[in-house]
Amino acid sequence: MALKQRIQELLSEVDRFKADSQEEIEALRIKYLSKKGDISVLFDEFRTIAKEDKREVGQLLNQLKAAAQERIETLRQSIDSKPVDAQTTDLTRTADPIGLGTRHPLSLVRQEIIDIFSRIGFSVAEGPEIEDDEHVFTLLNFPPEHPARDMQDTFFVSRDPNRVARDVLLRTHTSSVQTRVMLSQQPPIRILSPGRVYRNEAISARAHCFFHQVEGLYIDRNVSFADLRQTLLYFAKEMFGEDTQIRLRPSYFPFTEPSAEMDISCNICGGSGCGFCKHTGWVEILGCGMVDPNVLEACGIDSKEYTGYAFGMGVERITNLKYRVKDLRMFSENDVRFLRQFESC
Ligand code: PHE
Repeated sequence: MALKQRIQELLSEVDRFKADSQEEIEALRIKYLSKKGDISVLFDEFRTIAKEDKREVGQLLNQLKAAAQERIETLRQSIDSKPVDAQTTDLTRTADPIGLGTRHPLSLVRQEIIDIFSRIGFSVAEGPEIEDDEHVFTLLNFPPEHPARDMQDTFFVSRDPNRVARDVLLRTHTSSVQTRVMLSQQPPIRILSPGRVYRNEAISARAHCFFHQVEGLYIDRNVSFADLRQTLLYFAKEMFGEDTQIRLRPSYFPFTEPSAEMDISCNICGGSGCGFCKHTGWVEILGCGMVDPNVLEACGIDSKEYTGYAFGMGVERITNLKYRVKDLRMFSENDVRFLRQFESC
């Protein structure tokens, strides 16, 4: 029977369907499956054949239609998932940019502080973060019952209840590096000690259980408070601009005498008063003072021959002022939206 033969021919044709694009697939669909397509035409013819043939031919015809539909669908899927071939790839197009990464704002500012002081002869000294009470407190003239040694401030790694062995703790300031340098070398000493420090504080926008410091120490013959003031003025102007002014307020630290806290004229309002400086025109940035003779003697330096000054600042605080970061937590959350803002710095 002619119809049966045509169906069989078309069935073998279906297996040989080929297409390289969606357009070619659509052309196949139209040729075979549309209303006037080859297969539809056979359905029309089917109506005219003898009753006794209908069952067999009908099945065959349905098989052909299903095979054609399936083959077209398979071709469509294979084209969808095919990688864009060389013909449609523009090899001259500029590539997508590769992110270069950025330096962390605290690293940028830490390096800037180091650069400023290295121009006037300071070099960097580093020491361990896990320290003992001797280097962090005792040699720095902290009395045995000083509150800073207390659990509330200090993270202890181990503590000897009998007070025979030294307590092991996370350093609460990098002054511990200064004691190590004083113990191991004689003046002149002119060092900066940058590094991470730990204090047992609840984490909030304004406090964290760790932060970063840069401390400085200068010991030589005839070092005076005027030298300290001039050095800090130089630093403030280099860091925050030529118009920056400083003011020193009396303060107390166990390891310096006299001691002071230094404010700079608010670099946000220029000193006229704003929310940031609480309308005072000044913001505190560091602690400083003349090294207490007790500290020099405890570290093996003759306090009759030598004097010295020390200062210490929080890198986070300087960074907040420079880049106006309002929440300390941003520095350790590693949110790329925050970090990307420092790409060009
Ligand atoms: N070590 C002090 C602190 O952590 C800062 C400081 C350093 C003050 C040197 C005076 C002199 O707060």
